[in-house]
Amino acid sequence: MDRALLPALPRLCALCAALLALFPCGAHGNWMWLGVASLGAPEKLGCADSPLNSRQKELCRRKPYLLPSIREGARLGIQECRSQFRHERWNCAAGPGAALRPGSLFGYELSSGTKETAFIYAVMAAGLVHSVTRSCSAGNMTECSCDTTLQNGGSTSEGWHWGGCSDDVQYGMWFSRKFLDLPIKNTTEKDSKVLLAVNLHNNEAGRQAVAKLMSVDCRCHGVSGSCAVKTCWKTMSSFEKIGHLLKDKYENSIQISDKIKRKMRRKEKDQRKIPIRKDDLLYINKSPNYCVEDKKLGIPGTQGRECNRTSEGADGCNLLCCGRGYNTHVVRHVERCECKFIWCCYVRCRRCESMTDVHTCK
Ligand SMILES: *[C@@H]1O[C@H](CO)[C@@H](O)[C@H](O)[C@H]1NC(C)=O
Ligand SMILES: *[C@@H]1O[C@H](CO)[C@@H](O)[C@H](O)[C@H]1NC(C)=O
Ligand SMILES: *[C@@H]1O[C@H](CO)[C@@H](O)[C@H](O)[C@H]1NC(C)=O
Repeated sequence: MDRALLPALPRLCALCAALLALFPCGAHGNWMWLGVASLGAPEKLGCADSPLNSRQKELCRRKPYLLPSIREGARLGIQECRSQFRHERWNCAAGPGAALRPGSLFGYELSSGTKETAFIYAVMAAGLVHSVTRSCSAGNMTECSCDTTLQNGGSTSEGWHWGGCSDDVQYGMWFSRKFLDLPIKNTTEKDSKVLLAVNLHNNEAGRQAVAKLMSVDCRCHGVSGSCAVKTCWKTMSSFEKIGHLLKDKYENSIQISDKIKRKMRRKEKDQRKIPIRKDDLLYINKSPNYCVEDKKLGIPGTQGRECNRTSEGADGCNLLCCGRGYNTHVVRHVERCECKFIWCCYVRCRRCESMTDVHTCK
């Protein structure tokens, strides 16, 4: 059980509320949709009272049955971001009081053009692909269902054929593009053209990650499971796997020159010949170190974060606390243990106490 994840969940909704408060309109209105993750029961949601920009509202009005998937997509993306970064200095969380201050952490990261911005865009676009595609396969939609292009295919000589329900990721990708990719020409001058181009690229990189991790599942038929005949179908990977791939892309993301020419170019002059692939994550600006609180940018800093004294990784006290050192508290755990089944019929347990050291950054 991962303890680090648990406290993050209630804060999810606070984060969405913060986003809502921060970006009520403008080009950033493109991000209001994350607010749907924190809204009430999906069956009570309507397009008109959902936090969407005008273009998205229009799309929603035409396809209101997609609203629960939009909501699920936002939830998936935010949750995966927090999970992938839970041990890092930047942990995909808003700073204290973010709802009240413009330029909160997530707010800053949405427009900073850093690697973190890249990850947020990619994981959100991917979340939407995943949830919409799932919904198609579940038979919840009229205009999409299982991937029918595979019917009747397969290889009889190898003893398998396509069957069952293959996830139609193309529809999910189409919708994610339609919903998220604000055309560049429609944006205000305030936003840099390079940043917008980079954001669009990273949206697509997120979608490509879902497509790339499609796998094939098969089921055996034949006398007593002899597997003489197999039925196979294509299926999306778990969103956690997709999150892992995107985290990997984040770690290997490519810095782009902030001077846009005919097309985007790498910043490193001696690497310009290496092509940029559509599944690479791109950034423009170097990230801050996220060590100390910056109220203006909404960076909470790592003070008070729990760290691991023995780890050499990002969650180790050395790295996470940025060399400031850490405090140690003893935490007492009480749990049921040595449970025995007593005939008949109950379970008797003892109460066990244990002490663990918890370290938090100074
Ligand atoms: C984008 O611009 C076109 C033409 O100027 C306009 O018709 C359309 O409504 C705009 N879309 C948004 C989302 O602002
Ligand atoms: C499909 O619709 C049912 C009933 O509305 C809902 O319970 C279920 O979660 C939906 N499944 C997906 C994957 O959207
Ligand atoms: C701390 O890090 C070590 C080494 O990476 C690991 O074995 C251990 O499980 C971690 N402890 C906690 C509480 O996460």
